[in-house]
Amino acid sequence: MACLSPSRLCARVQDKLMCQFGHKVRRQTVFVKLKPPGPTPLRIFGRTCQRVTTCGPACGSAGMGPAAAGAVRRLASSLQSTSTGSLPDYGTQIVDPYRLLEDDLNGIYEDIRSELERNTNQAELNTIATYYFDGQGKALRPMVAILMARAVNYHVYGENSALLPSQRQVAMISEMIHSASLIHDDVIDQSDFRRGKPSVNVLWNHKKVAMAGDFILAVASMMIARLRSDEVTLVLSQVVTDLVQGEFMQLGSKETENERFAHYLTKTYRKTTSLIANSVKAVALLSGADEATSELAFQYGRNLGLSFQLVDDLLDFVSSAQAMGKPTAADLRLGLATAPVLFACEKYPELNPMIMRRFQEAGDVEKAFELVHKSRGLEQTRFLARKHGLEAARLAADLTDSPYQKALVVTTDLVLNRIKCVRVRVRVRVRVRVCVRVRNNVPTHNERANTSNVYRQ
Ligand code: FPP
Ligand code: MG
Repeated sequence: MACLSPSRLCARVQDKLMCQFGHKVRRQTVFVKLKPPGPTPLRIFGRTCQRVTTCGPACGSAGMGPAAAGAVRRLASSLQSTSTGSLPDYGTQIVDPYRLLEDDLNGIYEDIRSELERNTNQAELNTIATYYFDGQGKALRPMVAILMARAVNYHVYGENSALLPSQRQVAMISEMIHSASLIHDDVIDQSDFRRGKPSVNVLWNHKKVAMAGDFILAVASMMIARLRSDEVTLVLSQVVTDLVQGEFMQLGSKETENERFAHYLTKTYRKTTSLIANSVKAVALLSGADEATSELAFQYGRNLGLSFQLVDDLLDFVSSAQAMGKPTAADLRLGLATAPVLFACEKYPELNPMIMRRFQEAGDVEKAFELVHKSRGLEQTRFLARKHGLEAARLAADLTDSPYQKALVVTTDLVLNRIKCVRVRVRVRVRVRVCVRVRNNVPTHNERANTSNVYRQ
């Protein structure tokens, strides 16, 4: 089943992608009308946006405001009824975040590369440092930062507010910190492959690679200093502290199941979520938003980030290497017990000693993989991801109604339902994306009960 972003011209689904639930998707090219039938598009700041209508209180669902619940529910149900090659019946149209921010995101990788190039005369250092800024990433962090910036600006100053240059800088800084951490991570994990190409550590020696990561971080630090905001400096410095601590925590494990889950959640916050949460907080601070709005932005990012990482951990068990652009079951092979394994322990306690020895004995990885699939660990992980996604959507719905605020809600759904966003990039300006979707992840009553047990521990 494929879901086509409503405003894309054409989409190509890669050869036999394996979806999250094992459905095969054939390679094909799908042409889609640019403007789906429905209400006339809104024009905002001279840009054509999709109109989103909100529904009444009856649309509310677990823990969400009616507008957010309605938008997400409509999108989710449209996914269920969509087959590859046909336009989803959106009912009402949904804002496409990437389309909405096309002008803001345009050239963001070029700008990062220029910033790095400007700061070195070492050709090789520049080549290594710019290796991952090739436009093949999801640009999720810059997209979310700019979306929040525009949504908060609209919330505080109204319709005529503009994106501040400093807020776009934060979007770039966020992607730079992310890439610096990935470069270090690839050395630590001895990775082979990232984003469909050899990872950086395969091509250059580890000393040079580590320094290239440091260099990106150093240039990002200069950019932070130029923002001339102590508060933003503190918030973004916290991210780097968290990243290092999160990665460090991952090297250790805890004895008991309860400690392990808490350890996993804290590690996840530090390693993945802090960057997203603090970046959106930084753009809110730059906007001049009050404390409550900055906190709302932070909590949106925190919940979105947790949802993102939980989905990532899930996909490591169910997606194909081709769809992921990196090997799967990689976490087990690295000795890591992520949410699916931790949930599976409830039913299969024999996983506990394997976790303690970090799946190092012969057959551990295969056995753990099998037990996770036999347990309800994947469903429980998906439910937890959904819970955080819904919370993020609920928070976004509290901002003033605007296309950006709507797109923040839609982003929670993109994160939850992603397998891989296949992007065909034509010099950044035109990007074609297909999100291969799975199913409407409505939790069962038992899923709810099981997950809340884990949260209480
Ligand atoms: C990817 O994890 C790695 C991270 C999200 C952060 C790694 C952080 C460090 C190495 C600390 C140093 C930080 C800086 C800023 C220099 P993963 O291995 O789970 O994901 P992957 O499958 O994409 O590699
Ligand atoms: Mg890694």
